[in-house]
Amino acid sequence: MAMKIGILTGGGDCPGLNPVIRAVVRKGISEGYEIVGIKNGWKGLIENDTIVLDINNTSGILHKGGTILGTSRTNPYKKEGDLQKLKDNYKKLNLDALIAVGGEDTLGAAAKIIKEGITNVVGVPKTIDNDLSSTDCTFGFDTALNTAMECIDKLHTTAESHHRIMVVEVMGRHAGWIALESGLAGGADVILIPELPIDIDEVCVFLRKRHNRGKMFSIVVVAEGAQFKEGSMVTQEEKLDAFGHVRLGGIGGSLAEEIEKRTGYETRVTVLGHIQRGGTPSAFDRILGTRFGVKAVELVKNKTYGRMAALSGLKIIDVPIEEAVRVLKTVDMELYNTAKVFFG
Ligand code: F6P
Repeated sequence: MAMKIGILTGGGDCPGLNPVIRAVVRKGISEGYEIVGIKNGWKGLIENDTIVLDINNTSGILHKGGTILGTSRTNPYKKEGDLQKLKDNYKKLNLDALIAVGGEDTLGAAAKIIKEGITNVVGVPKTIDNDLSSTDCTFGFDTALNTAMECIDKLHTTAESHHRIMVVEVMGRHAGWIALESGLAGGADVILIPELPIDIDEVCVFLRKRHNRGKMFSIVVVAEGAQFKEGSMVTQEEKLDAFGHVRLGGIGGSLAEEIEKRTGYETRVTVLGHIQRGGTPSAFDRILGTRFGVKAVELVKNKTYGRMAALSGLKIIDVPIEEAVRVLKTVDMELYNTAKVFFG
């Protein structure tokens, strides 16, 4: 009987998930495996909601954003009884291995589940936030970064014509990778990230400096998780999701208000939100997702479980899932200092 591999995609959707699914199916089938798609992340394993994946139902998806399997932020450790249901269904489905595609939450749950006895788990790192450790990059980040950069390019037009300060709020809960790199690529005049408290006086100094040399507009990029020196993260609502996260959003508005009040310069805010998670994956993300998918099947084939596919330089390697989720990968301060050369 063919060995059965289950695959699930959990957490926030992101461009590049479908290339992973396609690659797992193509490589898996060529190795003689049966591939079971688990719908909506861990929720699908708790509810036994699956679909058999084959070459036909996974063709034509390489260029599509999102995930054909659906996703959720369901945490199998949140509700009593869910973990048992998950274990029972894993058995019922006769799965020999599981490929979990996700970020810190999904892979964090995977690391725990391994300890509960479902040992044959392999991880694939996904998140537009790029904050997973042990990999140089997660797929989804490059597309999000390019989308944010294009938006910054467009906002430049209005900033310049109307002589305004444009604050652009991008995603990035604990790590400011999108803000930093889209700001660098888009020529932002100030970039604010969760790793460094916002010094509003310093921000205004940079903006005045530009005005004083005749540049009557500026672009300020701020990550949603950034916070004022004496403040906390600005949230849309205090309600926590299953993994204990609040819904972020709003720091851009508070920042714009503060800038206008202090400088007198007309200031507007644009919140990019889920625009950054949507759309077709970039070439980089399609290729990275594909390579990760192939690697994940190779890990299963070699019974190298508890490992996550990862990018190291130009090579695909594997690392312990546990290591990858232990600490978040925050921004490289050397890169931030490079961006800082262009502030003001
Ligand atoms: O984890 C990626 C991410 O895009 C974060 O940057 C953001 O805070 C969060 O997801 C938003 O999640 P949701 O789609 O559940 O609002």
